[in-house]
Amino acid sequence: MSTISDFDSAASAGIDREHEVQLSLLRALCEALRAQCDGAQLSAMLEQLSDYCEAHFVSEELIMRQKSFDDYEDHIEDHSHMLDLLRAIAVDHATGRSSELTQKTGQALAFIETHINTRDRRFADFLRNDR
Ligand SMILES: [Fe+2]
Repeated sequence: MSTISDFDSAASAGIDREHEVQLSLLRALCEALRAQCDGAQLSAMLEQLSDYCEAHFVSEELIMRQKSFDDYEDHIEDHSHMLDLLRAIAVDHATGRSSELTQKTGQALAFIETHINTRDRRFADFLRNDR
């Protein structure tokens, strides 16, 4: 029989997998910028990254609400900030500001790594202790 504990374990494992995908998409974009890939390829990578981040944040926020997570408000501010960074990166790309684009992509990677290692870890601990 399925229990709340099973749900929390599956949710936690699913979120961890999504973080790995999120980081690998962002690292691939940093690498593509370093390799000076063409604009169409960068656009496709940026769109995929943005779509993935949005979907991941929606699913993570849904579980937080279901679990009445106490750090919800501060946590979603980080998500909003990350989406703002991605929109700014898309604008830099569309307007050909390549040095800002590389710099902001590096900032986005550092920001999301810190987010995953702090706020997301706190949420994972919260789910573990909820069993
Ligand atoms: Fe998060």
